[in-house]
Amino acid sequence: MERKWWKESVVYQIYPRSFMDSNGDGIGDIKGIIQKLDHLQDLGIDVIWLSPVYQSPNDDNGYDISDYRGIMDDFGTMGDFEEMLEEAHKREIKIMLDLVVNHTSDEHSWFMESRSSKDSPYRDYYIWRPGKEGKPPTNWGAAFGGSAWEYDPSSDEYYLHLFSKKQPDLNWESPDLRKAVYDMMLYWLDKGVDGFRMDVVNFISKDQRFPDGVVTGNLYGNGSPYYMNGPRIHEFLQEMNHEVLSKYDTITVGEMPGVSAEEGKLYTGGARNELNMVFHFEHVDVGSGRFGKWTPEPWKLTDLKTIFSRWQVGLEEDGWNSLYWSNHDQPRAISRFGNDKEQYRVLSGKMLATCLHMLKGTPYIYQGEEIGMTNVAFSAIEEYRDIETLNAYKDFTEAGLLTPEEIMHAVHERGRDNARTPVQWSKDDNAGFTTGKPWISVNPNYKEINVEDAVKDSNSIYHYYKRLIKLRKQHLNIVYGKYQLILAEDEQIYAFTRSLDNDLILVICNFSQEIVRFDLPADITFKEKELLIANYEVDSGEEIASFNLKPYEARVYRLK
Ligand code: NOJ
Repeated sequence: MERKWWKESVVYQIYPRSFMDSNGDGIGDIKGIIQKLDHLQDLGIDVIWLSPVYQSPNDDNGYDISDYRGIMDDFGTMGDFEEMLEEAHKREIKIMLDLVVNHTSDEHSWFMESRSSKDSPYRDYYIWRPGKEGKPPTNWGAAFGGSAWEYDPSSDEYYLHLFSKKQPDLNWESPDLRKAVYDMMLYWLDKGVDGFRMDVVNFISKDQRFPDGVVTGNLYGNGSPYYMNGPRIHEFLQEMNHEVLSKYDTITVGEMPGVSAEEGKLYTGGARNELNMVFHFEHVDVGSGRFGKWTPEPWKLTDLKTIFSRWQVGLEEDGWNSLYWSNHDQPRAISRFGNDKEQYRVLSGKMLATCLHMLKGTPYIYQGEEIGMTNVAFSAIEEYRDIETLNAYKDFTEAGLLTPEEIMHAVHERGRDNARTPVQWSKDDNAGFTTGKPWISVNPNYKEINVEDAVKDSNSIYHYYKRLIKLRKQHLNIVYGKYQLILAEDEQIYAFTRSLDNDLILVICNFSQEIVRFDLPADITFKEKELLIANYEVDSGEEIASFNLKPYEARVYRLK
């Protein structure tokens, strides 16, 4: 077991646009983050993952960067950024930036140069190809709808964009481009940032043959086998590590749609010198139907347990897991995996937190999760802001593949704006997020769910998170212990043990709203037990060989 600070840390994600607005323009900003650092220090987190704050025309809320070394005007200035970094460090909070280097904005100077002429030295910073008989170079679809290729009449070539057409993909085959990215990373590390969360970083190496993809259901082919975990991906990450990361003591996490546990081990293996951890998507993709998340279906707890267990066991000897229920692209954790009805919201929020924080890996908390924020259900599509949601609504209804009611149902369950409504700070107007008009409406439930009330209530989800974070600092077993699933077939209970030397921790979580019987497997024996945390009042003397779990009950015992 190799001890590392980033294994022992808890990360908190800030989506700046929705976090806290300091100047009344309705958009969260860096000064707003500074105002709330005391809240994060009180919560006890170690690292902030900051979603992009760079200059951007905001086609995809900052994930389309037009200047990697400048701060978005909406968010403030470089002076504000430096102050935030200093204030965070004073509180022993590290800052991990979002590194978006699969693509830039089409308004980045590199792209404008690249587009200006076939002879530009920047031409091969991007992926340009001639068409095939008047059609795009491949049949690949883009993540935000339409073809993944955009025609440029001035050079009679197409450029690749796996996301929106305002997000052209960078060409990692170019050594000059790679060097420019590494220089930019060094610029931020020299400024004092502590690491990077890397946006879709397993997409950066494309199969240079550019084959067509299989057409499934709609008009476009699936190009992902030719750019996910592509041919040179490990070489590029090792080079990045050698040129940049190895020179600093950083925390790194690669966002990786379509990554398997076997590949996860390659990306995070200790001696391979690539990344510390990856975000896989397997658990957040459960319950996806014919059109993926746009046709949500019920999911089974056994599927979730199988996925978590595969990653826990797969990275047991080598590599490291990241643990998350939600982020700015996912619905709210309680609405997705727990129960957001009033009588179960707090209980299921605590249960989910227990389960995740007791798994082996570095836990991530998404802003608002610490107070149990829930999904929002705006009735009109016009109230939504997310490019993915708006394009999907248009594409699916226009093609007659889903009715407006069907797609709205999916948006309410799985749309990205569920996570992007402003953080609910208080009962004040607009939840205390802004004195102006928020760029996206506040969830109307802010009078019941807000930070101010949660901090005052010692029984709140907030105080429960604080206790979980403290426990991690007190028990090495929670960080480094070996994971073992028990009761694998149970569809309501997720239970597992963690063990380190002679220390055994037992985690029991009821994922259902029913009362369910828990029977401790006979091979788990102990003389004494200590209750570390629970979301109901528990009589510490109670026998645990066989007992009833209440709805969404969670308990953690230390057995000796
Ligand atoms: C993943 C990011 O998390 C998401 O918000 C973004 O839209 C895409 N990558 C494209 O950058």
